[in-house]
Parts: sequence; structure tokens; C-alpha cells
Amino acid sequence: MTLKVLSVASEAVPLVKTGGLADVVGALPGALAPHGVETTTLLPGYPSVISALGRKPKVVHTWDSLLGTPARLLAGTLPDGHPLLVVDAPALYAREGAPYTDAAGLDWADNWQRFAALGRAAADLAGGAMVKRGKPQGFDLVHAHDWQAALAPAYLRYAPFGATRTPSVITIHNMAFQGWFGPEVFLRLGLPESAWTLDGVEYHGGIGMLKAGLSSADAITTVSPTYAREIRSEAFGMGLEGLIVERGDAVYGILNGIDADVWNPAADAALAARYSHRSLDKRRANKRALETEFGLDEGDGPIFIVITRLTWQKGMDVLPEVLDHLVGIGGRLALLGSGDAALERALIEGASRHPGRVGIRIGYDEALSHRMQAGGDAILIPSRFEPCGLTQLYGLAYGCLPVVSRTGGLADTVIDANPAALAANCATGIQFDGVNYDALAAAITRTVQLHAQPVVWEHIQKNAMRCDFSWTASGKAYADLYATLTA
Ligand code: ADP
Ligand code: GLC
Repeated sequence: MTLKVLSVASEAVPLVKTGGLADVVGALPGALAPHGVETTTLLPGYPSVISALGRKPKVVHTWDSLLGTPARLLAGTLPDGHPLLVVDAPALYAREGAPYTDAAGLDWADNWQRFAALGRAAADLAGGAMVKRGKPQGFDLVHAHDWQAALAPAYLRYAPFGATRTPSVITIHNMAFQGWFGPEVFLRLGLPESAWTLDGVEYHGGIGMLKAGLSSADAITTVSPTYAREIRSEAFGMGLEGLIVERGDAVYGILNGIDADVWNPAADAALAARYSHRSLDKRRANKRALETEFGLDEGDGPIFIVITRLTWQKGMDVLPEVLDHLVGIGGRLALLGSGDAALERALIEGASRHPGRVGIRIGYDEALSHRMQAGGDAILIPSRFEPCGLTQLYGLAYGCLPVVSRTGGLADTVIDANPAALAANCATGIQFDGVNYDALAAAITRTVQLHAQPVVWEHIQKNAMRCDFSWTASGKAYADLYATLTA
């Protein structure tokens, strides 16, 4: 029998993306389908999402007032054919800017309402609000992602629509974003007074949306086994470690996969030359193309790449400091990223000191990110914390060896090229401990030394490219979890 799951999120590729959350939400329906799960994705009706529905989208439900604003539910499909539902509430979502911030980069003042409405809509739909030919179309389970969808489990818990309560799962993609709002918001959420407790939605005198989801969902997952352990500690739990420990039995770490239809160097239309682990020599054409694209001197020494949000989480404050060392020992760097303005300036300034050796592209460019993975030798990921991380998985698949700090999903997916791993021929990248100048500089030195040994390097590349980080295992892990919650 098919299990019907409503996957609720604020992003999904290719319709709207600010980070890895979108890759994962976009890939889940396909990952779950082989396991008898039909996933319908529910998204907010941002302009890019509405326009993807075509000129005459089908209206399948209306709310006179969804948390105080009129809304319609539109139905369509994701480009891969899986069902899509969209909350069309123009007062909340029809605006220029990014999903969470305005053009100046400030959080939208009504974010509490924009995402509470998403959670409320999900709970209504799970309970059967949508009716087709006289029959309510409910769902067997709701899967909410991150704080933006986290009120869905709380609405299901406190204000169930219909007699039976639909089970729910919440996935933490990043504990650093929690959706905290002042106490004045509570009365406008339409939750019963009984929800205003330490065990409910109250958090530090206000509303904690992620907290509400974590205390209300039947199961909590996060995106790697190591991060699932780390968030039990003060250093990673960001204040919610106590709740994670308390809910210990319900917390699971399920590693993200990568979508092999999108990330496969043997079939990637964005590349100058396609290749596999059997034709690594073809990577050279991609390296030459990358040098041209970033204005780098031609050479055989390693090109490090960075593809990231420019933030403290990603260790990007340490990168400018280490540029002189990287260049001094024969490395080059190509960076694609955007984010913190001070970090952007520091990197641009650093690049100006190293013409031909460091190239910086500020912005967001999906196709370029593919070309970089194919042309770069190593991808630097010095994250302070990393729930899973996808760019190291793309690096592995493309033979662009990940150089990563030993945390979260980075620790779970890269095998350090230490002497034992090299002897056993199982190394896939370089790991280092701690995000600071010394650790990063030492890791870069180690990478340059390994790269200078072409036979060793090629072995590591082949190991990396043979890794299976497809969704096969993780799709089954989610399906198994759903099955236990709906049995
Ligand atoms: P996070 O979600 O924390 O930003 P992940 O590694 O999980 O980190 O996912 C980041 C995703 O965003 C990857 O698909 C990566 O390739 C992509 N990405 C990040 N920055 C850029 C950029 N400037 N241009 C293109 N893609 C980017
Ligand atoms: C978050 C995390 C990242 C993870 C992604 C998808 O953005 O920062 O580590 O890979 O979500 O789960």
C-alpha cells in the first residue's frame, strides 16, 4: 500500500533555493518513491514557485482566513513529476527579495506569519481540508523541514483537524536557525492556551518555532549521524540540547544523499568535458576551462575551490587569512559565494593581492558550481559546524577531493588520507580538527603534498568517485521510519 506523505518546506530545487535544504527537499520524493511512499511537497507561493505552476494553476482549496489572510491552495507537479501543493497567499509571499529577507538583507518583519501560515496549512491538509469529488484528501504523515515548517507538528498536536492525529516527523537541517518571535505573536497563532508551556511552543519568553516542532513531532531527524550526536551538546545544540537529550529515543541521524541525475560528471551538460573514474585524464580540459573562467595562471599545481554561503558557520572568516600561505606553497584558489558583506570584501581584497592565483566570483551560479567541481582539484570546506554538507559529496562524485573540518556530516562522509588509510587504499579526502589558521594551513599543505604525488592522488580520486552517496540507503531509512510511525 502506498503511504501518502506531505513534505513541508520553505525551499525545493529547482523552484527556490538558498542552500542544501532545497536540494534535499527536491530529491526526497524521488528517493522515497521506490519504497512505496508518495510524497507531496508543500511550498509557500513565492513568485518563482507560482510562475512554475503555469498560467492557469488548479485551485484545490481556499481559506477565507489562513492566520488572518485569504489564501488559495494551488496544485501542480515538480519538474520531476511528483505532486506539488502551493500556498498562494499574496499578502505573505508575493514580494520581490529572497525567501526570508528583503532586498537589504533584513529578515521580513512578518516571517512569523509567513511560516506559521505554512505550518497551519499543512496541518489542515493532513486532516483532510482538501476535498476531491466529495472525498477528503488527507495524508498519512507530515514531514516538516527546519523552523519554517516546524509549526506543522505543533498545529497537529494542539489543534487536530478531524478525529485522528496525523503523525509527524521534523528534520533539522540547521540548528542555528530557530525562528524565535516575541510573545505578542502567540495569540495570533490560533493555538490553544495550553500550548504556551515549556513543553509546548514557549521558548525564552516568546515563540520558538523549531523548538515547538521538536517538542511536538513524533520523531526528530537530522541530516547526519554525527550531527545527531553533536546537537546533544552545548557547543552544537544552540540552546536546544536539553530538549534533544530529553527526546533522545525519538532522534535519528539520516545522511543526505545526492541526486545522481543532477550531479554526475559522466552526464553533466555543464562541463567542458565529461568523464568518469575510468577517464580521469579528461578532467584536464575542465581544469583549463576553470583557469580561463577565473583568470588563473595556467599550471599543474592544485586548484582549490570553494562554493559556499559566505558565513562564519562555513569558516569563511579564516579563509582570507590563509590565502598567502595557500598561494605561497603553489596553490591557486577559485571561489564562488555570497553572503556576509565584510567577508566578501576581505576575500576580494585578498584576491587583489594574488592576481592569477586567486579568483573570486561573488554571486550564485548553479552551472558554474558544476564546472568548478569538475575542474578543481580539491574543495575546501572549513565549517565550524555542518549538519550534513552537500558540496563535499559533490566533490567526491567529481573527483575534486574534499578538504574538510572534522564535524557533522563532513566527518561522516570523508575518509582522511592518513598513512593507515593510504596503505589500505580507502582514503577519499583530507580532514582536519578545529577551524583556525594553523589547522587550515596545515591541511592545505598536506593537500599540496599529496597532489604532488600523482599516483597517490589518482588513487584517492578513484576511491572518492566510487563512493555511493546516492539516496538509495537514506530513502529506505526515511521510509522505514515513516512505517514505524504509521503502523
Ligand atoms: P548549506 O545548505 O549549509 O549552505 P550545503 O553544502 O548543504 O550547505 O548545501 C549548499 C548548496 O548550495 C549546494 O548545492 C551548493 O552547491 C550550493 N551553493 C552554495 N553557494 C553557492 C553559490 N554561490 N553558487 C552556486 N551554488 C551554491
Ligand atoms: C543545511 C546545513 C547543511 C545541510 C543542508 C541540507 O543548510 O547547513 O549542512 O547539508 O541543510 O540538509
